[in-house]
Amino acid sequence: MSKQIILNAFDMNSSMHNSHGLWKHAESKRHKRYKDLDYWIDLAKTLERGKFDAVFFADVLGVYDVYQKSKEPSIRDGLQVPINDPALLVPAMASVTEHLSFAVTVSTTYEAPFGNARRFSTLDHLTKGRVAWNVVTSYLPNAARNFGLDKMIRHDERYDIAHEYMDVSYKLWESSWEDGAVVEDHQTDTLVDPHKVHEINHEGQYFSVEGPHLSEPSPQRTPVIYQAGTSEKGREFASKHAECVFVGGPTPERIRYYAEDIRERAVKHGRNPDHVKIFSFLSVIVGETTEEAEQKFEEYNKVWSADAAKAQYGASGYDVAEFEKMDLDEPFEYKKSTEGGQYKAATLTKDAPKKLTVREVLNRFESIDRNSVIVGNPTEVADAIQFQFEASGVDGFNLNHLVTPGDLEAFIELVVPELQKRGLYKKEYAEGTLREKLFDREARLPDDHPGKAYAFRKEVVR
Ligand SMILES: Cc1cc2nc3c(=O)[nH]c(=O)nc-3n(C[C@H](O)[C@H](O)[C@H](O)COP(=O)(O)O)c2cc1C
Repeated sequence: MSKQIILNAFDMNSSMHNSHGLWKHAESKRHKRYKDLDYWIDLAKTLERGKFDAVFFADVLGVYDVYQKSKEPSIRDGLQVPINDPALLVPAMASVTEHLSFAVTVSTTYEAPFGNARRFSTLDHLTKGRVAWNVVTSYLPNAARNFGLDKMIRHDERYDIAHEYMDVSYKLWESSWEDGAVVEDHQTDTLVDPHKVHEINHEGQYFSVEGPHLSEPSPQRTPVIYQAGTSEKGREFASKHAECVFVGGPTPERIRYYAEDIRERAVKHGRNPDHVKIFSFLSVIVGETTEEAEQKFEEYNKVWSADAAKAQYGASGYDVAEFEKMDLDEPFEYKKSTEGGQYKAATLTKDAPKKLTVREVLNRFESIDRNSVIVGNPTEVADAIQFQFEASGVDGFNLNHLVTPGDLEAFIELVVPELQKRGLYKKEYAEGTLREKLFDREARLPDDHPGKAYAFRKEVVR
């Protein structure tokens, strides 16, 4: 059987994710309904009907405040604000589904590892092993100030912290509780055998954690590890820890380059490259006919907000208002390096399909970037998806949706059957936890994963 596409819905527990200004579109329901649990319950059922593998929840811990050195443009346009906690949606969405999984973004820069490990163990228990953690290091200056820092920790150090954070997490998940620690022995009045529950006594550069972990082992112990970040440091981190990587890049060629680089680095870390699945971004506007899809594209463009798009570009650490002062006909380049998200910055320079002028860069924000969205009838859309899948060598996509839930429903109704007909997409779910579904192996980490080195062994018991 040919390789099949793994598909996640790319979402956020927010009034608006990547659809700048589209809250004004008559069919957009999300800014009114994202705070209504029924909205998410309905979405979970819709996604399972479409055989989606997971819903991938992005998250931020601050307001975009780089553009115009102000929070106003992002707040005015509802750019990822208001935003609620994504993890809290998962149990409700899991309760109405059997197979859909949940990837939840949590930053290693701001949240303490002890509490985060318990959060994911809880979710893994409640979902029966259908949970993944998207590890990010974050990029918003406002987030730093929300967590007591004057300014952001530097880009590369954020990844150093993330490496140690992972070690702490693996110790809690893999080495603190032995299997069978809950003995429920009436004769000795023992529910949990204290000899089978261990402190981790982690003392490192950034964290000090005694333990033991508070949760008993969950179906996967360590949740499936996702990572998103495509800088040199980001790829090095991904190739060591991630089982799924969300790669940023505007062309199939650049995505292939990043995917191959991550797989090669994984081999250097002693890992089987097939144990790392690569995902890229996908955005689709589909209609029954080409004309209908083009009409939707035009309607969406009419309400598009250039200001919100510019504010979101602040994730790169660069202020688009500064680009507006440059000579418009000069080739575009940055004047200094960034401490923000390097994947984002690269989209306008080294990852761009051609050298851009300042004018071309600024034009990109004015409307929906036609190069980043597939518009067409079901056959045209499936052709384009198949091309991207084959040309980039990814294993799957995080599917963006501009008008929600309408665009997702249209995708499921019109595109999914076409992909299934071509053998590119599953007709039935595989059984088991997310890790079992993705890798057709056991629920727990494979032996070549660095977290497995911490798995409980008698000789490491203190
Ligand atoms: C495709 C993609 C999606 C991302 N999603 C998020 C997110 O939801 N929340 C977040 O804080 N960071 C997100 N990040 C960025 C990470 O925080 C990343 O660790 C940080 O920006 C550094 O990225 P870099 O390695 O490309 O420089 C994302 C990055 C990529 C490439």
